[in-house]
Amino acid sequence: MISESRAGSDMQAFIHALPKVELHLHIEGALEPELMFRLARRNGLDLPYESIEQARAAYDFQDLQSFLDLYYQGARVLVQEQDFHDLAWAYLERCAAQNVIHTEIFFDPQAHTGRGVDLDVVLSGITRALAEGERRLGISSALILCFLRHLPPQEAMETFEQALDFRKYFIGVGLDSAEQGNPPAGFRDVFARARSEGMRLVAHAGEEGPAAYIWSALRDLRVERIDHGVRCTEDPELVAHLRDARIPLTVCPLSNVRLKVFDAMSGHNLPRLMEAGLVVTINSDDPAYFGGYIEENYHAVQQAFDLGRDELAQLARNAAEAAFVSSNRRRYLLERINEVVDSR
Ligand code: ADE
Ligand code: ZN
Repeated sequence: MISESRAGSDMQAFIHALPKVELHLHIEGALEPELMFRLARRNGLDLPYESIEQARAAYDFQDLQSFLDLYYQGARVLVQEQDFHDLAWAYLERCAAQNVIHTEIFFDPQAHTGRGVDLDVVLSGITRALAEGERRLGISSALILCFLRHLPPQEAMETFEQALDFRKYFIGVGLDSAEQGNPPAGFRDVFARARSEGMRLVAHAGEEGPAAYIWSALRDLRVERIDHGVRCTEDPELVAHLRDARIPLTVCPLSNVRLKVFDAMSGHNLPRLMEAGLVVTINSDDPAYFGGYIEENYHAVQQAFDLGRDELAQLARNAAEAAFVSSNRRRYLLERINEVVDSR
């Protein structure tokens, strides 16, 4: 008989080996305190923390807003092209260490342009790292520009018009920041504009906000994926629609617990989402703040719900299905996943 700890370590090894696709990662949320301190020193900036330990201790959140306050404050150390490069490169090294083979990365231009950092600087630094990641690590990647929903829709439109000068650097647009009281419908025009430019469309909805915001993201913004979306279970008609239309949800389990969307991992509705036949994917959101990258997220849900190999493999396949990639690349991602699943 295999002991429980043996079975547990086997699952951990399986999760590690499983080729993974990440679809919900904010690059500013991958800023580890060590790099934050290094960049603050490099740029002659003060931080509100005495030490790395003190920074980590401050990451004790009550809700989304209490996290966003520290997240935007942390992002202020990102000033030069090299800073954005180093941030993205550090994330890609984590991807390589965790067998992530494709990643779609959010960035928040307004968090930088609002402080006088040019979009050119942000995008040059990140895309230089992504090109190195493709070449040296074999990780394919794409960027998605997110609008900050706590700022006026008109500013989102201005940001998008400026970003069109760099359109070859990003494949789509998203919507993030404080959800409650900032429904998707306000951003209808800028999403329509992005759509007319051939952009892929996603939005955070149903993280803290109600199921009605998920409907609004689908109907008013015409998004192709929902980021988070966990509150969909409050509306059975919505769940049926997400299932029938195969609208993927990019779920971020550790984030949801750290931001108190659920009291504990055992109370997360991931099993309900999976049982409902939704295209659920597992992602890390802001790993430097929430205590884990994609592998730790898979591990946390495996442990909480005793998921088996078939279920874990399905989560990875769902992400390959939901990725904004060519049919060739999708076939390759699925083959890589199946190779590992079949060999174990
Ligand atoms: N920006 C970074 N992380 C976010 C999250 N989890 N929700 C909304 N906006 C975000
Ligand atoms: Zn997010």
